[in-house]
Amino acid sequence: MMSSNIPEQGERVSMKFVTLVSIVAALGGVLFGFDTAVISGAIGFMQQHFDLNEFQVGWAVSSLIIGCIVGAMSSGVLSERFGRKKVLITAAILFIIGSAFSAVPVTFSQFIIARMIGGIGIGITSTLCPLYNAEIAPAKYRGRLVALNQLATVTGISLVYFVNLWITGLGSEAWGISSAWRWMFAFGLIPGVLFLVLLFLVPESPRWLIKQGRAAESLPILVKIHGETLAKQEVLEIKESFRVENGSIRQLFSPALRLALIVGVGLAILQQVTGINAVLYYAPEIFKQTGAGTNAALIQTIFVGVINLLFTILAIWLIDKVGRKMLLLVGSSAMLICLIVIGAAFQTGHTSGPWVLIFILIYVAAFAVSLGPVVWVVISEIFPNRIRGKATAIASMALWTADYVVSQTFPPMLVSAGPALTFWIFGLMALITVIFTWRAVPETKGKTLEEIESLWAAK
Ligand code: GLC
Repeated sequence: MMSSNIPEQGERVSMKFVTLVSIVAALGGVLFGFDTAVISGAIGFMQQHFDLNEFQVGWAVSSLIIGCIVGAMSSGVLSERFGRKKVLITAAILFIIGSAFSAVPVTFSQFIIARMIGGIGIGITSTLCPLYNAEIAPAKYRGRLVALNQLATVTGISLVYFVNLWITGLGSEAWGISSAWRWMFAFGLIPGVLFLVLLFLVPESPRWLIKQGRAAESLPILVKIHGETLAKQEVLEIKESFRVENGSIRQLFSPALRLALIVGVGLAILQQVTGINAVLYYAPEIFKQTGAGTNAALIQTIFVGVINLLFTILAIWLIDKVGRKMLLLVGSSAMLICLIVIGAAFQTGHTSGPWVLIFILIYVAAFAVSLGPVVWVVISEIFPNRIRGKATAIASMALWTADYVVSQTFPPMLVSAGPALTFWIFGLMALITVIFTWRAVPETKGKTLEEIESLWAAK
């Protein structure tokens, strides 16, 4: 369905410019994927190099996520105040500093500090890139363009698997076994610098400019997106959306917006507690529990990456056609079935055949076509213009905190509760996701951000 106030011709004016801008912003997703996944290849080498104990290994992994929580938290206030673009540039710089210093530390504490600095950058980009894309995209393609960000994230994850494999494969001769891990982090500089340079080419978000009373500057940007007539109309609509009240956090808890906050934060948490990162971060370990050897486990892990990538592309194609809600419902129902089956396989000891692998792959596919991209899209579009920066920051912070909790508790849970119960708990969360989506999540496909805003008011 097409938004009522954006006719076909206006859409045509936009696409080249909007796609370019969205690709630049989506590059932030590559950093996100790269930085969260790089540790998986590096940790073994680092353990030897720094002689780490279990607790320190945990720190090596979670220090980034702690930085992410801080970055997500501050992205709201900062981006409302200084604009989306300046804060994204700062995030790129933090990421570059983080990558460079993660590669050269002398002590383990220096490494932890470097990871936290990089994490702040990731927390910011993970929140602001989808938000920036949502604010710049025409309604009809918004889902697709914001979901590009998730494609970039998944690409970043896959990129790391290959870079790590390459560096590890060259092993001691070319890179020096003791410094292989340093090169893994140093590679992050390439997407980091590229992102930084390209950011200078994109415009500030027109919606933020209007909020600052700089409508004159926003007009040329909107003209590029929609053409002259529609751009003028859009400026009026956006201005109107700011007329109501100025965006204080307190407003989010007003009855009109409480529901939006519950949907945003609820989906953010459910995206994580249904277990995706437990599967992604620990895939080789899970496969080993089914009896696969080390090599087979690594190859199976690459399958997981490929499926994640392919089904994210499918999501990009579907999201503006079938809508967000339908993807969420179908995807989380499929995840639920897979989790029940995987749990049952472990419970009954039927893990030696290919079934666990097959159902894990279907589970990842179901996530990639639904919760993966759709949650980031919904978070970036359901909040009103005047409060979007702060509200998405709260949702993103909830997402990273849930990520932290799941990735910290998964290994001990595998041991104490066993794999069957662990997967069933994720299954229970998938069931809650289905019910929550069905009852609470509105369909936002094809609506302008201002139309979505009035949807909450109507509720
Ligand atoms: C989403 C999640 C992230 C996860 C990724 C996997 O971006 O937010 O935590 O690692 O999907 O594809």
